[in-house]
Amino acid sequence: MEFSNLLIQWYLQNKRDLPWRNTTNPYHIWLSEIMLQQTRVAQGLPYFLSFTGSFPTVFDLANANEEQVLKLWQGLGYYSRARNLHNTAKLVAYDLNGIFPDNYKDLLQLKGVGEYTAAAIASFSYNEVVPVVDGNVFRVLSRYFDIETDIASSGAKKEFSELAKELIPHDNPALFNQAIMEFGALQCVPKNPDCERCVLNSGCLALQKNKVGQLPVKLKK
Ligand code: ADE
Repeated sequence: MEFSNLLIQWYLQNKRDLPWRNTTNPYHIWLSEIMLQQTRVAQGLPYFLSFTGSFPTVFDLANANEEQVLKLWQGLGYYSRARNLHNTAKLVAYDLNGIFPDNYKDLLQLKGVGEYTAAAIASFSYNEVVPVVDGNVFRVLSRYFDIETDIASSGAKKEFSELAKELIPHDNPALFNQAIMEFGALQCVPKNPDCERCVLNSGCLALQKNKVGQLPVKLKK
């Protein structure tokens, strides 16, 4: 079995049960992805639950006052995220009739939604065939395919995105995207990954060449 199938099999057996994985509601997916920027899952999870509990729909969030939103956000940091979040909720609620854009290109127009977040929402909510590229994806792909491109360089995102596009199964892009991120978070970790017990070890070029510790390459800017 090749890369994508093994990865997905691994994911189905090892994934964490996280609430934003049991929904295709774009509002909930968007909330989770904004919260998880620069924030670990364990830290973000209680905030996700309190936000979806207090503001079950984008209209509830839009109609809340800013004070209320910032109060619930307290402790997560990067408060500009909370302000962007509130402004975008108002835009979606009032200008878009509460309907999130349903494709990558239009999602990118939302404030606070970059390439990664747009790809996450487009694939998880709408099954659009668009790869997510975050730090986990850089790590997994650079190791498996022995790619020495500096991930801080300007062309890196495009290069890894092109590769991921070739790997992503068209019949289930959401599953592949979740799987590669989870694999990077739990198995192909930055320091001392357990390569002996890795389902991808037989095809991993970095492992064969004893380069796991050197990849991905990230040069100081
Ligand atoms: N970090 C960012 N997005 C995530 C997701 N959808 N699941 C787990 N961790 C994440």
